[in-house]
Amino acid sequence: MEFRSCSIIHMLESCFLLLIIFQFAEGYDPVDPNGNITINWDFQTITDVYTVMVRIYNFQLYRHVEPPGWRLSWAWAGDEVIWAMTGAETTEQGNCSRFRGETIPHCCENSPVIVDLPPGTPYNMQVANCCRGGVLSSTTQDPIKYASAFQMVVGNANARNSTVEKPSNFSIGVPGYTCSDAVDVAPSKFRHDNRRTTQALKTWQITCSYSQFRESDHPSCCVSLSTFYNNTIVSCPHCSCGCQSPITAPQCVRQSPYFLHLLNGDDGSTTLPVVMCTQHMCPIRVHWHLKLNYREYWRVKVTITNFSVRQNYSNWNLVIQHPNLRRLTQVFSFNYRPLIQYGDTNDTGMFWGIQYYNDMLLESGENGNVQTEMLLQKDPAEFTFKGGWAFPRRIYFNGHECVMPPPDTYPILPSGCSDARRFVRRYFGMSSLLLFFALL
Ligand SMILES: *[C@@H]1O[C@H](CO)[C@@H](O)[C@H](O)[C@H]1NC(C)=O
Ligand SMILES: *[C@@H]1O[C@H](CO)[C@@H](O)[C@H](O)[C@H]1NC(C)=O
Ligand SMILES: *[C@@H]1O[C@H](CO)[C@@H](O)[C@H](O)[C@H]1NC(C)=O
Ligand SMILES: *[C@@H]1O[C@H](CO)[C@@H](O)[C@H](O)[C@H]1NC(C)=O
Ligand SMILES: *[C@@H]1O[C@H](CO)[C@@H](O)[C@H](O)[C@H]1NC(C)=O
Ligand SMILES: *[C@@H]1O[C@H](CO)[C@@H](O)[C@H](O)[C@H]1NC(C)=O
Ligand SMILES: *[C@@H]1O[C@H](CO)[C@@H](O)[C@H](O)[C@H]1NC(C)=O
Ligand SMILES: *[C@@H]1O[C@H](CO)[C@@H](O)[C@H](O)[C@H]1NC(C)=O
Repeated sequence: MEFRSCSIIHMLESCFLLLIIFQFAEGYDPVDPNGNITINWDFQTITDVYTVMVRIYNFQLYRHVEPPGWRLSWAWAGDEVIWAMTGAETTEQGNCSRFRGETIPHCCENSPVIVDLPPGTPYNMQVANCCRGGVLSSTTQDPIKYASAFQMVVGNANARNSTVEKPSNFSIGVPGYTCSDAVDVAPSKFRHDNRRTTQALKTWQITCSYSQFRESDHPSCCVSLSTFYNNTIVSCPHCSCGCQSPITAPQCVRQSPYFLHLLNGDDGSTTLPVVMCTQHMCPIRVHWHLKLNYREYWRVKVTITNFSVRQNYSNWNLVIQHPNLRRLTQVFSFNYRPLIQYGDTNDTGMFWGIQYYNDMLLESGENGNVQTEMLLQKDPAEFTFKGGWAFPRRIYFNGHECVMPPPDTYPILPSGCSDARRFVRRYFGMSSLLLFFALL
């Protein structure tokens, strides 16, 4: 009897995993349902040419735009050319041979691609909020670096026609995002001091939204688990992010400081992520350790380890879903902010580094990781160490979902199977609820 109920539970667990996969096919992010990247075109002058300040805002709670940064593009409606650009540049000048005057436009392409300038650009080529290599932080993490801007002077090549037509086919060139068409919105207002406010002559707005489904990227992080009550360490699933193979990508390197030095010394032009050789091949591993059990509290230690050789993970963040986060009492060494809070649902939170202390992930190795401990108050109605309840439901690193070990490998309390039924029921309850939300 007991054996049979166990195998039914395993079957249900596989169904649960399928449910998770199905849920993501939906492409809706319940953690940040209103998150978007907004692009404003604020018109400063309109004559036979017009001057626009283009501002890009990352209104997402935890996703940010990582290096190599945004690459904004669109298709002009007519014969427009960009006469000048400050704070950014187009990747191609294009064919400007029809201009024979003293000034040649910055760009004559019908579909220009614009990239941010790197940090350290001379001041006379900058505008406010430019020149960060296209990197955008999230609103939660950095109230300044979530915005980016550049200015351009646009002319209609066929002489004095001041009709301003909207371009189309906008893209920010970051995997996973699609952008709307430009729409007229109320002109942006700018507060200069306590007395005066100015406004743009007119404003167009484009909204870009993210979908996990559209980002066909392979995983870039995985989760391992351990407990104080069972000395089994459940490591990341094999081949979570790729398999070690001499032929196929991603490449990996043995831990040789000399070789690493050589790799870091090249110009970094290879786009392949180079990782340390591990059985999971992920650049990032998140380890969840159930550390201590007190009468009214329990303590978890979370460690993030960097296995990437050259990726720069400054301003990293971690999003964790666990039902007990609503009773989180204390977080050590990381910043914390709860994310989903409505009705009874308050189970997802964002963690990120403290500036100048651990906001950059260090080299992997003995001290090459960042750690936090958190203290959670037990909710007597649901708290249990049994059946995997104390492990996270879902973890994202920098907005990318991490590969979890399969539930049937979780370290178990010696008492065995009886509580797993409760675990499965909980899991099922939760995922059908989420599925319900996702289908709304
Ligand atoms: C984009 O995000 C902003 C800020 O959260 C929000 O006010 C706006 O409604 C969002 N736009 C869309 C189209 O979701
Ligand atoms: C550049 O544009 C001119 C006309 O504007 C055209 O005659 C010429 O063929 C173009 N050159 C190339 C290489 O496309
Ligand atoms: C200006 O150009 C647009 C298309 O680019 C055209 O529809 C419109 O008639 C032109 N206006 C004048 C005054 O030439
Ligand atoms: C829109 O942009 C995509 C890539 O950015 C390009 O492949 C496509 O041809 C463009 N469509 C139009 C109508 O310009
Ligand atoms: C990583 O990026 C940050 C800013 O994005 C920069 O300040 C830092 O110097 C970079 N670190 C390395 C090792 O390139
Ligand atoms: C959600 O949980 C956090 C602790 O993680 C708590 O500070 C916050 O008040 C809770 N919000 C609601 C609406 O219960
Ligand atoms: C991550 O570790 C690698 C070495 O393993 C190092 O080269 C890289 O700079 C680290 N990332 C950061 C942001 O420090
Ligand atoms: C620890 O967990 C493993 C894997 O779930 C299980 O096989 C093992 O029996 C457990 N150890 C003890 C002492 O209960």
